[in-house]
Amino acid sequence: MLSVIYVSVADPLVRDADIAAILTSARRNNARDELTGALIYNGFNFMQALEGPDEKVEACLAIIRADARHSGMVELRRRTIETRTFAEWSMLYDPSFQGHDHDLSRLAANGHLDQQDERLMGNFLALGRRRPAA
Ligand SMILES: Cc1cc2nc3c(=O)[nH]c(=O)nc-3n(C[C@H](O)[C@H](O)[C@H](O)COP(=O)(O)O)c2cc1C
Repeated sequence: MLSVIYVSVADPLVRDADIAAILTSARRNNARDELTGALIYNGFNFMQALEGPDEKVEACLAIIRADARHSGMVELRRRTIETRTFAEWSMLYDPSFQGHDHDLSRLAANGHLDQQDERLMGNFLALGRRRPAA
């Protein structure tokens, strides 16, 4: 399986309703395609993890890349994985992923991970330990 984490720049016109629409599509399509992952949004930038069968991840990334609700997608991490981090989530969304708004913007501007981004990445991946509400 493939796991990809990217950051991007949200279109300035993105509103809560757009986020809800993205999640509705993502959860439906990802469940169909055996994809799992997580999304965070700080009002300016997105960070998303997508994991699953290689060709499904690639196909989904191509669709996401063409989505006008964001731009400037930069892959931060691409790995072959045996075990999913977000196994129970077709698309986890954390509207209150706090404390990292500035970090996420800096990371999206830099386009690569450096030392100070490790904490953000660690906390992002730790979201996968959450359990969906029953
Ligand atoms: C930041 C971001 C993340 C997205 N993540 C996904 C995703 O994980 N899976 C997905 O199918 N679509 C995702 N989308 C939406 C797609 O770009 C596209 O709108 C959608 O797949 C269209 O599917 P539909 O016609 O079935 O609604 C995302 C869009 C954005 C802007």
